[in-house]
Amino acid sequence: MRAEKMNAQKKQASGLKSKKTKNSKTKNAKSKNLSIEKEPKENARNSKKKSVENTAEKDVYRKQTWRAGNMLYPVPAVMVSMARPGEKANIITVAWAGTINSDPVMLSISVRKERYSHAILSETKEFVVNLVHEPLVKACDYCGVRSGRDVDKFAEMKLTPAAVEGVRAPAILQSPVNIACKVKEIIPLGSHDMFLAEVVSVTVDEAYMDEKGTFHLNDSGLVAYSHGTYYKLGRAIGTFGYSVRKNKK
Ligand SMILES: Cc1cc2nc3c(=O)[nH]c(=O)nc-3n(C[C@H](O)[C@H](O)[C@H](O)COP(=O)(O)O)c2cc1C
Repeated sequence: MRAEKMNAQKKQASGLKSKKTKNSKTKNAKSKNLSIEKEPKENARNSKKKSVENTAEKDVYRKQTWRAGNMLYPVPAVMVSMARPGEKANIITVAWAGTINSDPVMLSISVRKERYSHAILSETKEFVVNLVHEPLVKACDYCGVRSGRDVDKFAEMKLTPAAVEGVRAPAILQSPVNIACKVKEIIPLGSHDMFLAEVVSVTVDEAYMDEKGTFHLNDSGLVAYSHGTYYKLGRAIGTFGYSVRKNKK
């Protein structure tokens, strides 16, 4: 069933018309449920849902409506580092992170109140967002399933705290991009508090720079997180604005 659906998607992606797919409600919706952020158990929760058939031109889509759940994927999974002065530094893995403003440059991270990191972030009002590439993915997962209350995550994962401009919070030396942030506002949302922060500096690894000084972030093997699984970014399939760009001959 799963293979059938994927083949249909492939056909669609290659511009071919897909045939009607059979009901795929159970196996397709199976969640691996790996995330501490409690991936919804769609198959259990929604198995009794009726599917509705709609037709657009010659393609038939069978769709189910589920109750609300976090389904905005893929997202970056980032490693957020922080420290109280004089104490061991900590790292929390965060998937609920996003760019929220350009001027001033701002981003947000959402952290549950009960996390060990929450108090450090609230008190120091500083953190560093460290982008995750393939060599860091295991450490990224570890920092998302072990608490700084119990372990020294830098030491356990053989990571190196590094100073970056504008904050006292340490960055992770091994990360290709360190984004230093100062918290401007903490918004309680319910399960999570959202830390709205201004970016004060960005530190990049020269290993991904060419001789002209151009930074090739997409050559660093960045990791995305989707529905309980980490993926290394793959083949480029378009660039910003390509849909309207005139073909250069
Ligand atoms: C992929 C992944 C994404 C996560 N995203 C978040 C998140 O956005 N917010 C959050 O509060 N916890 C998130 N977690 C859970 C925390 O990283 C986890 O509870 C961690 O152990 C907390 O560390 P601490 O106790 O040292 O603060 C995530 C975990 C994983 C594995």
